[in-house]
Amino acid sequence: MAGGFVSQTPGVRNYNYKLTPKVFITCFIGAFGGLIFGYDLGISGGVTSMEPFLEEFFPHVYKKMKSAHENEYCRFDSELLTLFTSSLYLAALVSSLFASTITRIFGRKWSMFLGGFTFFVGSAFNGFAQNIAMLLIGRILLGFGVGFANQSVPVYLSEMAPPNLRGAFNNGFQVAIIFGIVVATIINYFTAQMKGNIGWRISLGLACVPAMMIMIGALILPDTPNSLIERGFAEEAKDMLRSLRGTDEVEEEFQDLIDASEESKQVKHPWKNILLPRYRPQLIMTCAIPFFQQLTGINVITFYAPVLFQTLGFGSKASLLSAMVTGIIELLCTFVAVFTVDRFGRRVLFLQGGIQMLISQIAIGAMIGVKFGTVGTGNIGKTDANVIVALICIYVAGFAWSWGPLGWLVPSEISPLEIRSAAQAINVAVNMFFTFLVAQLFLTMLCHMKFGLFFFFAVFVLIMTIFIYLMLPETKNVPIEEMNRVWKAHWFWGRFIPDEAVGVSAAELQQKAV
Ligand code: BGC
Repeated sequence: MAGGFVSQTPGVRNYNYKLTPKVFITCFIGAFGGLIFGYDLGISGGVTSMEPFLEEFFPHVYKKMKSAHENEYCRFDSELLTLFTSSLYLAALVSSLFASTITRIFGRKWSMFLGGFTFFVGSAFNGFAQNIAMLLIGRILLGFGVGFANQSVPVYLSEMAPPNLRGAFNNGFQVAIIFGIVVATIINYFTAQMKGNIGWRISLGLACVPAMMIMIGALILPDTPNSLIERGFAEEAKDMLRSLRGTDEVEEEFQDLIDASEESKQVKHPWKNILLPRYRPQLIMTCAIPFFQQLTGINVITFYAPVLFQTLGFGSKASLLSAMVTGIIELLCTFVAVFTVDRFGRRVLFLQGGIQMLISQIAIGAMIGVKFGTVGTGNIGKTDANVIVALICIYVAGFAWSWGPLGWLVPSEISPLEIRSAAQAINVAVNMFFTFLVAQLFLTMLCHMKFGLFFFFAVFVLIMTIFIYLMLPETKNVPIEEMNRVWKAHWFWGRFIPDEAVGVSAAELQQKAV
């Protein structure tokens, strides 16, 4: 069945370029776009477990936290506190939809710039917050920034990179996200020890640093050849392609970009067109991948790690430290994806990572269940707590080389030019919506489902692994503007792609693939 997928689709060109310093530097700076998202993800969990912060803005949570009689699973359950964390994701959802138009009409770099700018203003509101309103406004502005950046950066990286290294370069975005998380966690570790309100203000205010990095980066970066052609600058695009690829022999790729652009000109309304049957595979994938990425349950660890570790009986300092350890492991393991994604392909990583996450989640659920039971009171011994941290690290590692980076890579590379911006906006919007849901519901779910929460996510990991096995064709090394052939050759999706989109029939492609 999955035999219907082909690792190297017949008829797909392979340009085989070498790595040039220009493409490396451009993608390196472009990937900074992930820093703002990562910084925010890493800072929120730590700040919401800082006592002076809770005392100032969420006194009832503070009181509850101090109460010795509180059920372990429910210590932090508060709608308002989760609203603080998750308001950002709703704002990002909305802004990603606007970002798609800016990305298409003005180019990828201006969406990146706007992302940095709004994030910068948001960081000032948060750092100087005097009341909940300022805190929430700041958070919404940060969300706008994340929406713009996440919509434009993955597409930017996928278009800049040579096809044979696209996976590695695009994964730079996830590396930046995790780097942002780790730096934020380290900052939290120190600021949490400061007396009074200064600690959380520094944590939230320092978000201005990654914001400035992406703003400056966006100003100096060139736009992608694909976007230049889309906006009518064909000559500039060709020059850009030559300097990016380090050779004058770019005719084939250039022609592919021109063809893709011609095709895309037929499409006036990307938002309406993406609903046409011929874009069904891309539409389903751009919805399913972010949905599944969030349903791995990763953000339970990412932004609630300190809270989760405190629930498990770690002290507040030890909790931040453990969160730091999981962050560093996630960062290191993301490099596994960087170095293997273009060699082994996307499917192998998705499947291996999925199985690893599944096993570790079941083990974590079982251990917490045995220790806390359904009552939720009890103490966890040092050894058991360490085993749980180790299992969490195994789970995080699995995510780090599969659904983390691939959740951004695959949606950004599977769509033809005419719907690429809209598809990426859908990817971000779905991702943010489910990040919001998990953020909003996690503490309540932990309170009610208790250790069953881990089994809940494990069921989804099982479903998504089967889904990838059956439905996702391999896209490694396939030039981005030739992706239609991959869909056409797939046992299920082939029926949606018209012959004229690839110039061959599905039967011919599938026959050659056997
Ligand atoms: C996901 C985030 C997650 C982060 C770190 C990203 O790919 O989209 O939701 O928090 O990885 O694990």
